[in-house]
Amino acid sequence: MLITMDEFTIQETRKFPQATGDLSALLRDIGLAGKIINNQVRKAGLVDILGKHGATNVQGEEQMKLDIFANETLIKILKSSSECAGIASEENDDHLPYEDAYSTQAKYVVLFDPLDGSSNIDVNASIGTIFAIYKRVSPVGTPCTQEDFLQPGNKQIAAGYIIYGSSTMMVYATRLGVNGFTLEPSIGEFCLSHPNMKCPENGNIYSINQGNSVKYSEGMLAYVNYCMESNKEEGRPYRQRYIGSMVADMHRTLIKGGIFIYPGDKSSPNGKLRLQYECNPMALIMEAAGGKSVDGANNTLEIVPTELHQRCPIFTGSKNMVKKAMEFVK
Ligand code: AHG
Ligand code: MN
Ligand code: MN
Repeated sequence: MLITMDEFTIQETRKFPQATGDLSALLRDIGLAGKIINNQVRKAGLVDILGKHGATNVQGEEQMKLDIFANETLIKILKSSSECAGIASEENDDHLPYEDAYSTQAKYVVLFDPLDGSSNIDVNASIGTIFAIYKRVSPVGTPCTQEDFLQPGNKQIAAGYIIYGSSTMMVYATRLGVNGFTLEPSIGEFCLSHPNMKCPENGNIYSINQGNSVKYSEGMLAYVNYCMESNKEEGRPYRQRYIGSMVADMHRTLIKGGIFIYPGDKSSPNGKLRLQYECNPMALIMEAAGGKSVDGANNTLEIVPTELHQRCPIFTGSKNMVKKAMEFVK
């Protein structure tokens, strides 16, 4: 018997008598945006959606047509959701308050990376959407403000991703745990397929862009050497896997265990990935699944953001692998 994501979240919220069901409505809206984006992704190559859009985003990165489509879809759907007071997106310079009468009454704000893994769009590899939900700190009844979007990751109410892979899945975490839902195309619903996901405590896959190793710190280089040399010793044969879509690399890490790293290096001390759109949501998922996530010294979820688009190094995945890596880079 299939359980749809909607049925599941409603059942979960019923465990808390004071819950109003707003969060399930918001997750449903994000899921709807995911289905619309998925629909375009599945036609990529047939319709004119591949390739560059011709502009750069606030981070100076080239925007692809699908980046723009995904961004606009999420912005539009969340605007008509009565549960979202405003959004911040990797593709927009500033946060965007929704100023209509319904939205200003909403309790939540959403931050997202609308299309993660842009460089993989044109080559038909897995890409995704990442989102984080926070309860606003500004007063309900007024437009949301920048401080709503600068809360540390441990204030996330829920976070998740949609992966457009060999199948399409939505995975989300709350403090209660992590659950995965596969899109059943014939009914157009995400259905529970991966209940109570747990990241194995140990793993044997390390996932990092090793092409950057000339720029690594000594500690980072030593850890990568430790991973490479592991095949010489019995008992810890490590393998390297790196797709270059964080969502895809993290989905594998969550299911199979392992470590995903995007470190700071000599030219980019804070690495590449964005704290608010990529690191925090993935860190919440990992922690709720029993894994661990740090920036090299501190727990990712404890970092207090100072600006919307700030970058942050990340080491995340199987608890024991992250701890081992820390011994090298601390
Ligand atoms: P985005 O497509 O949203 O800009 O994110 C790309 C990110 C992330 O998905 C991936 O892990 C990382 O960039 C890969 O970067 P490198 O090519 O530098 O390894
Ligand atoms: Mn991304
Ligand atoms: Mn992106």
